[in-house]
Amino acid sequence: MAFNLSTFFQKESSSVLGVDIGTSSIKVVQLKREHGRVLLETYGAIALGPYAGVEIGRATSLPAEKIAEALKDVIREANVTVQNASLSIPYASSLISILKLPASVEKQLAQVVPIEARKYIPVPINEVMLDWFVVGADSKTEPTGKIEVLLVAIHNDTIAKFRDIASDAGLTVAFFEIEVFSAVRAALEHGIAPVAVVDMGAATTKFYVVERGLIRESHIISHGSQDLTLSASRALGVSVTQAEEWKRKFGLGATDNTIPAEAKLAESFTLSLSPLLSELSRTIAAYESRLNQSISQLVLTGGGAGLKGMLEYAQGKIPTEVFLADPFSKSQAPAFLEKILKEAGPEFSVAVGLALRRLQEMG
Ligand SMILES: Nc1ncnc2c1ncn2[C@@H]1O[C@H](COP(=O)(O)OP(=O)(O)OP(=O)(O)O)[C@@H](O)[C@H]1O
Ligand SMILES: [Mg+2]
Repeated sequence: MAFNLSTFFQKESSSVLGVDIGTSSIKVVQLKREHGRVLLETYGAIALGPYAGVEIGRATSLPAEKIAEALKDVIREANVTVQNASLSIPYASSLISILKLPASVEKQLAQVVPIEARKYIPVPINEVMLDWFVVGADSKTEPTGKIEVLLVAIHNDTIAKFRDIASDAGLTVAFFEIEVFSAVRAALEHGIAPVAVVDMGAATTKFYVVERGLIRESHIISHGSQDLTLSASRALGVSVTQAEEWKRKFGLGATDNTIPAEAKLAESFTLSLSPLLSELSRTIAAYESRLNQSISQLVLTGGGAGLKGMLEYAQGKIPTEVFLADPFSKSQAPAFLEKILKEAGPEFSVAVGLALRRLQEMG
């Protein structure tokens, strides 16, 4: 193999940037490869609420200019130095389905998939960007000589919007990736058995099943961490801002009499979480019985998973073994940051996953 000097020089500028534009906040993570190790250079998050005139922690729906403004602010606050960014596309703006096709067409997928995709995509095919991956021919589920193809479609308008946001904020785009794939890359270790990944955002929770590194199933549950804040605010008769502050400070563990109604606070959170956890249990059970295969673990990610006491509470309600995502463990940082990074980790899974892919691509 020829020795390539250019790879040497690239190492000088091997920093990469992952940008996750969520509905409630933007997260940025800058990583660098040095001597074969992945270093965390900087990270930061900024709430979008204030740009939309709503409280911190709430989901927003903002025009591109406002999002670009927030992105610029977080880039400055976090001292980001990389301009070439990898961006996530929200799961809700994408369409993911599994096509079952005869194995005989495997060599003609470029022709067959766009035609087949029309059956699954509710808009004209020329309005979307299509991508696909063969996810295998599982002999257990498909004994009939069929292959399964994971189809991914993103509307052109969505891509255009995120391109505008990036360029308004002074960034160039290395690639776009649907957040499912980024979250899974950052939240999971390599494994074969099916694993569930649950991304708890502000307004919604996303549920994915990953098997042999491939996404087998995904859907959205319309319950998110802002629902905890809103119900605590109602139950305790305090402002949404106050409830959000208490949620982040005490979580399910307000037991030290620091606030007047701490027991009520934890109770309102568990009341709000309970239907979500039941739905997760049911979804897992349904998947397991349909494929006659057990899900080995459930990994919680997203800002909502940062709730103090969440892991223990979820474990008490769900028979599958539950873990918290620890995406920063895939990079190195000064030891004194260890605890902070473990706690903040779940919120940054998508941004870390984007940056990790970029580092992989740069070799
Ligand atoms: N320490 C914490 N404890 C409890 N909840 C938290 C904590 N930190 C953030 N949250 C909550 O997590 C939610 C935001 O999570 P996240 O940043 O993953 O959402 P998002 O990416 O903006 O949303 P989405 O993925 O749905 O677009 C907010 O509702 C916020 O209140
Ligand atoms: Mg998110």
